[in-house]
Amino acid sequence: MKKISLAEPNIGNKEWQYLKECLDSGWVSSSGSFVKRFEKFVSKKTKIKHATAVVNGTSALHLSLYVLGIRETNEVLVPSLSFIAPINTIRYLGAVPVFMDCNEHHTMDITKTLEFLNNETFMKAGSCYNKKSKKRIAAVLPVHTWGNPVEVNQLYSICRKKNIKIVEDASESLGSLYQDNKGNMVHTGKIADIACLSFNGNKIVTSGGGGMILTNKKKDSDLVNYYSTQAKDDPFYYKHNNVGFNFRLTNIQAALGLAQVQSLPSFKAKKKKIYKIYDQSFKDIPGLELIKPAKNTRSNYWMTVLKVNKKIFGNSRDQIIKKLLNAGIECRPVWYPNHLQKPFKSFQSYKVQKTQSEVKSCICLPSSTNLSKTDISKVVSTISRMQK
Ligand SMILES: Cc1ncc(COP(=O)(O)O)c(C=O)c1O
Repeated sequence: MKKISLAEPNIGNKEWQYLKECLDSGWVSSSGSFVKRFEKFVSKKTKIKHATAVVNGTSALHLSLYVLGIRETNEVLVPSLSFIAPINTIRYLGAVPVFMDCNEHHTMDITKTLEFLNNETFMKAGSCYNKKSKKRIAAVLPVHTWGNPVEVNQLYSICRKKNIKIVEDASESLGSLYQDNKGNMVHTGKIADIACLSFNGNKIVTSGGGGMILTNKKKDSDLVNYYSTQAKDDPFYYKHNNVGFNFRLTNIQAALGLAQVQSLPSFKAKKKKIYKIYDQSFKDIPGLELIKPAKNTRSNYWMTVLKVNKKIFGNSRDQIIKKLLNAGIECRPVWYPNHLQKPFKSFQSYKVQKTQSEVKSCICLPSSTNLSKTDISKVVSTISRMQK
């Protein structure tokens, strides 16, 4: 039985060609030309001025928070509904997450986050402090979950007033657009202080493992470049005036990433098509619906997520997952809420309610760009046959 996978990479001839070119050149570590070409290509595509390729999305987030000055006396507002990586990176720096709820698009609930900032914080000497913990809220970290952009304008205008830095986790949203404060559609991350991408194997574009740090600010980009390469003050005589990281992407990974990102338009078109087919197939089945992107945004449809109302559909989310797995169809529940994870459950969460019900009722469906129509039909018929 052929297995249908959740999110597998789509590797073409160009990937083999660039990898061969890279290996033949002998430049396999992080100094080769593919790293520069990959960074330049993503910067042009996103229209964000500076791009630094790093080893993965997690290190991108870690270093971004670090160069923006986030340290152990600080708090960072972050959604509970997310892959665990952004929360871990806050903890690497000794800072503390404050968990926010999600909305129907599975992105950070901006209304509740603003309510928290308006009612639960105070300003002192130009900085924003949490009334409860008395710690400084130094950053927000919204995540564009499933490729669905967060609508950030209202939040960011308050953050700017309260001297709160903005790091966007765009790991899942390469190719997704949101509106800036003038109503222009721009790439996710464009209006943050820093945005981070992931090129993990399950993402819309992969470099095997990899990430990228994007910013319009030269000063922050210079810091990222400096700290990601062991903080070399004199690279010839090995003088280091600070403690740095070894976070740069290798040329081999960049060769793969460059070939992949050159196919982004076709990957995006394929992802959207997959979403539309699922949507058409499930729209008349009571108790089933897809998680949709917000109206004024353009998602890359990285992952299609199905929400199950057990009372109406007649079978639970877990029964559907079991049936799909038995049929050789890979699928996953949505991440366990981060405010309930063992290392984080002592930290503050603000009215996180929707996250818990969403997590219990949702399934990530196969969304690979190389899914065939027959594969999608099999997923759909396996689920729709369970209707009671
Ligand atoms: C939302 C989100 N943030 C961060 C990451 C971390 O990226 P990486 O696996 O490249 O470290 C991922 C994916 O893996 C992710 O989905």
